Amino acid sequence: PITAKINQADHLEIGGCDVVELVKRYGSPLYILDEASLRSACGQYRQAFTKYYDGQALVLYASKAWSCLAICAIVSAEGLGLDVVSGGELYTALKAGANPEQLYLHGNNKGIDELELAIEANITIVVDNWYELKTLAQLAKAHQSPTKVMLRITPGIECHTHEYIRTGHLDSKFGFDPNHVEAVLAFLAQPEVSAHLDCIGLHAHIGSQIFELQPHRDIAQAILPWFKLAQEKYGLNLSELNIGGGLGIRYTESDDPPSIDDWVKTVCEGVSQACAEIGLALPKLLCEPGRSLVGTTCVTAYTIGSSKTVPDIRTYITVDGGMSDNPRPITYQSLYRTVIANRLSAPADQLVTVAGKHCESGDILIKDVQLPTTEPGDVLVVLGTGAYNYSMASNYNRIPRPATVLVQDGEATTIIKRETYSDLLRQDILPERLTPQH
Ligand code: LLP
Repeated sequence: PITAKINQADHLEIGGCDVVELVKRYGSPLYILDEASLRSACGQYRQAFTKYYDGQALVLYASKAWSCLAICAIVSAEGLGLDVVSGGELYTALKAGANPEQLYLHGNNKGIDELELAIEANITIVVDNWYELKTLAQLAKAHQSPTKVMLRITPGIECHTHEYIRTGHLDSKFGFDPNHVEAVLAFLAQPEVSAHLDCIGLHAHIGSQIFELQPHRDIAQAILPWFKLAQEKYGLNLSELNIGGGLGIRYTESDDPPSIDDWVKTVCEGVSQACAEIGLALPKLLCEPGRSLVGTTCVTAYTIGSSKTVPDIRTYITVDGGMSDNPRPITYQSLYRTVIANRLSAPADQLVTVAGKHCESGDILIKDVQLPTTEPGDVLVVLGTGAYNYSMASNYNRIPRPATVLVQDGEATTIIKRETYSDLLRQDILPERLTPQH
C-alpha cells in the first residue's frame, strides 16, 4: 500500500521523502500522506468494478474517514464521488471542486440548514428516517427544487467488528426499519411528494473494519426485492443501489483483510446473482469506502521524549502526541504497528509501551511492542493512520492539531497547517468584566 522504503541513511522514506527530515522541516507530530497510494487505492476500486460489473458503477469516498480539501480534490480527480455526512463535509467537498452530481449526503439527524445546503447544491440526499423524509418533502416543495433522494434501510445483517462501528443489525440507530420500507415507498409514490422528491435508489451500510465477505454479498439479496416492489407496485423508478463501505484494512501483522479486488468481486457477484434471481435489470452500483481508501496511505510521525521503567512491570516511552491526534486506541482499543524511523535496522531488543502526552492514563498508543532501544529525539512512526485519525482529532489538553504533508516523488507539500496557540483561542471570548485589571 504505502510507497515506503529504507533509504541509505537507514531512515524510513515515504513517497520519496525521508521521514526524519520531514519531521525536522515540518515539526512533530506530523501526518504524512502518500499521494501515490491514495490514487492507487482509488484506481483499484475503479478497475475492479470495470472488471466485475456489467452495469454502471460509481465509487464514493466516505469523507468522514478524512475530510480536507486536498484529499477531496485527489479522490475527485480520480473519478470518485463523495459521501458526506454533515454540512461541514459537504462544504469541504464543494470547495474542493467535487462534482455535485456525485455527492451524497448521509446522516441520521441532518439539520434543516444541512438539508437546505444539499438542496441548493443539487446533490443526492440519503434519507434516514420518517422525520427527515417529511421535512425534506416540505423543504423541496418550498425551494421549488426537485430533489434526488435515496432511502437508507437497516438491512438486518450481522457482521463481526467492534460494537461501536456495526450498523447493519436491526437494533441500529441508522436507517429505516425493513418493516417500514413499503410504507415509505407508498409515501414517495404520492404525486404531491414525487413532484418534489425523486427517489433514485436504496442504500445500506453494515459496518466498518469488516474482514468477512459474506455480509457484503448478502446486502443485495436483502435490498433488491424492494427495487422490484417499488417499480411494480408503486411505479417508482429506482436505479441506484449503494451497498455502503466497510472493507477493513491491515493494522497489525495478524490482520488479514480481503483485497479491494476480492471485495468488489464479491459485491458484484452478489448483486448480479440477486438481480438474476428476481429478474431485475442491473442497477447502477455504488459503494462508499472510507478506511480502505485512505487508511493505509498515511503515517503519523512523533518525536520520542521521556521514558519510565516500572521495575518488573513495563517501560513506557512517551511521544509528543497521542489521543488528541489518534483517538482510536482509547476509543476502540485499536491496535497499530510502529517503527522507529531512524533505527530501522536496529534489533528490536526492548519491550515497551508507547504512551501519549495527554493527562490521562488511558492515553496509550501501543501496548507491549518490541522496539529497538530508543533515545529522546528519535522519530517513532505509527502506521496506517489515514482513516479516522485527523477526522476524529481534538484539542484535548489544548494541544494544537498536527500538520499534514502530502508526499509524492520526493516532494512534500503542506495540505493542512499545524494549529498554533492563537488558533486555539480563535473562538474564545474574554468578556470585558473578566479582563484582569493589572
Ligand atoms: N458509509 C456509511 C453510511 C458509513 O457510516 C461509513 C462509516 C462508511 C460508509 C465508511 O466506512 P469505511 O469504509 O470507512 O469502513 N470511527 C470509526 C469508524 C466509524 C465508521 C462510521 N461509518 C473508527 O475509527 O474505526
